[in-house]
Amino acid sequence: MDPSLAIETSGLSKHFSDNIAVVDLSLRVERGEIFGFLGPNGAGKTTAMKMLLGLISPTAGEGRVLGAPLGDLEARRRIGFLPEHFRFHEWLTAEEFLTLHANLYHMEQEYLSQRIPELLELVGLTAHAHRKLRTFSKGMLQRIGFAQALLNDPEVVFLDEPTSGLDPMGRRLVRDITRDLRAKGTTIFLNSHFLSEVEVTCDRVAFIKEGAIVHTATLDSLTNGELHVAVRARNLTPEARQGLTHWCRNLQVEGDQLTFQLDSEDQLPLVNRYLAEQGVDLYTVQPKFIALEDLFLKIIGEGESSDPREVSGNLET
Ligand SMILES: Nc1ncnc2c1ncn2[C@@H]1O[C@H](COP(=O)(O)OP(=O)(O)O)[C@@H](O)[C@H]1O
Ligand SMILES: [Mg+2]
Repeated sequence: MDPSLAIETSGLSKHFSDNIAVVDLSLRVERGEIFGFLGPNGAGKTTAMKMLLGLISPTAGEGRVLGAPLGDLEARRRIGFLPEHFRFHEWLTAEEFLTLHANLYHMEQEYLSQRIPELLELVGLTAHAHRKLRTFSKGMLQRIGFAQALLNDPEVVFLDEPTSGLDPMGRRLVRDITRDLRAKGTTIFLNSHFLSEVEVTCDRVAFIKEGAIVHTATLDSLTNGELHVAVRARNLTPEARQGLTHWCRNLQVEGDQLTFQLDSEDQLPLVNRYLAEQGVDLYTVQPKFIALEDLFLKIIGEGESSDPREVSGNLET
């Protein structure tokens, strides 16, 4: 095994009596990588993550996180974890809750008295530091969960469905925090059953189904192709509309809704700039990478009949 990798597993499997949750999982995640583990409910994502964290032991196979065997206590000090379903000590305030967890890490008083306010600020809960968790909304609980996962300034963070149940503001916060972590070189392992979640944050994605990885692909390879764009705009003049055909194929306009296709993502800023220069008011611009969505549906959505080998393109595995 390669100690320079953030995460590496070989043949990792987990059976619960006659239920096979994870089958022969072999993974390599580089340091600094944002790795998406994408699959429907029941695919085995949480089970795989719990094995990586050493919270449950594998039936077969082995793995390393930060160069140490799974569950190693020294390595665990350098790992953060946001569980999928967590129950907090609801009688504690946000600050008391983080202090409790900091104490579980045996953090120095000096460090935690600076780190806790910093994290409350990061997740937008400074104003609620002295409120009991009992009074928190689901979104606020998810934020404090995030702060907890980052307390020890981890080198690897495991996020299990971090945006499920969050409103758009909450999802955006998660995305921003993930980007900050990326900029710092933190490795992120992200479980999700939402394509949109991995699409915007991850470098690489593994599609998992019925306990096994069915494909691994870099987001680059999947987002290089044709792009479908939906725009909401007002004041589109006939001239501006005519000008758009320079880049856009299949341009359709219905009221303030425009849809079109571009040959690559690189054209999108040019189109945006053009529309702005023409005095068009842009409300939303939504790009959709067809290759990624098609692949997702083929592998994950449409079930048993599709053969993943039919999927062509720039896949690695
Ligand atoms: N403790 C357990 N006992 C028995 N079966 C379990 C247990 N945990 C998970 N499973 C089963 O393992 C499979 C994978 O579950 P899970 O890892 O939670 O999937 P995901 O996180 O992708 O939704 C499911 O069929 C689930 O019912
Ligand atoms: Mg799960």
